[in-house]
Amino acid sequence: MEKKVTLEDIVSLAKRRGFVYPSSEIYGGLSGVYDYGPLGVKLKHNIQNLWWNSFVSAWDDMYPTDSAILGPEKVFEASGHLAGFKDPMVVCSNCHSQFRADHVEGDKCPHCGKTATLGEPRQFNMMLQTQLGAVEGEGQTAYLRPETAQGIFTNFKNVLDSFSPDIPFGIAQIGKSFRNEISPRDFLFRMREMEMMEIEYFVHPDKWEEAFEEWRVGIKTFFGKVGLPEKMVHEHEIEEAERAHYSKRTIDFEFDYPFGQKELMGLAYRGDYDLSNHQKVAGKSMEYQPKDGSQPFIPHVVEPSFGLDRLVLAVLVASYATDEQGGEKRVFLKLPAEIAPVKVAVFPLLKNKPELVKKAREVYEMQKKELGAVMWDDNGNIGKRYRRQDEIGTPYCVTVDFDSLQNDDVTVRDRDSTLQERVKISDLLEKLQ
Ligand code: GLY
Repeated sequence: MEKKVTLEDIVSLAKRRGFVYPSSEIYGGLSGVYDYGPLGVKLKHNIQNLWWNSFVSAWDDMYPTDSAILGPEKVFEASGHLAGFKDPMVVCSNCHSQFRADHVEGDKCPHCGKTATLGEPRQFNMMLQTQLGAVEGEGQTAYLRPETAQGIFTNFKNVLDSFSPDIPFGIAQIGKSFRNEISPRDFLFRMREMEMMEIEYFVHPDKWEEAFEEWRVGIKTFFGKVGLPEKMVHEHEIEEAERAHYSKRTIDFEFDYPFGQKELMGLAYRGDYDLSNHQKVAGKSMEYQPKDGSQPFIPHVVEPSFGLDRLVLAVLVASYATDEQGGEKRVFLKLPAEIAPVKVAVFPLLKNKPELVKKAREVYEMQKKELGAVMWDDNGNIGKRYRRQDEIGTPYCVTVDFDSLQNDDVTVRDRDSTLQERVKISDLLEKLQ
């Protein structure tokens, strides 16, 4: 029977195989901050590209932006983040550890174990502030954005002016966001620096429910494409008291992580909260003028907001699998081919036979030219090479052996079944595609 994957299994594989490293590790790391290694970058980009193809390229009415990470105070005054983007914090009077009040059960300090030392919760703003300009005290206060969304709202008028889109239309953006989490935890789940993929979908105020339902379906389809089984994803309607300050309705899509069922992404109806507030604070009209000459109005928005790092974590958890092959335990990632960092690995059966290496190299060059993400491996014995590729989720391994020299064919091994078949080199690309 397959064993349940633990967070330690994922963290360890991610580090060992070059997916994710603790940031600044040689200096002891930085809490809530991680770096992606070579395979993690590829996995992340592939997920990102799939999102882009699904929600931007495939749509006629989607406009991408790439706005700045730094924003002036006024933006976040208007967005309500200065006043409302807070978490309740408690500090232990004995060991001085800080916790999010809603993460602590009972009155015991989770770090030192003392009781009645945590005191009353106080509100802690999670925005990261910085000063721009060379002269101390005379600079300008700026913030690292806590969501990419505000860059979409502040460019709303620009996109209207440049493209005159018909409503409904969306503005999409992928980029880094920053949150000074009181207690970052659970690897890529709660980070201080993270990447988000967000869309603000602008609709007529009467049409938001329709759009909300469409996004709900689109999100579930997307989860299927990245290989998240339906049974591991749950919809959670968020009650009013728990919703973000801007939201009139939110559904969280939650995922079964090894540490419990927790948020993966959110679908929120933000009404006209943001555009109206920017209109007020900036003193610039945020109205949309319908092309039929009817009354102008401030559009409402439906916002699907994905945390890309959380998605990478969910994909690793969902795809992590173990079985036994030839009496040995095997770990493999059942990644969908579209997001696998390496699509095909090509090996010569033996490294010290020049005729095998030459032929394998030809096969490798041919596939690499067409498929891109193809890896060459001639280290160790063939069993070890298969294990290495299984562990990083490579769907197919192609081996050039002595029969290949006579028959112009290769073996193609399937990652999940481990079954092999012989395929003519002339048919190989079609087979792999
Ligand atoms: N823009 C959604 C969020 O900040 O969570």
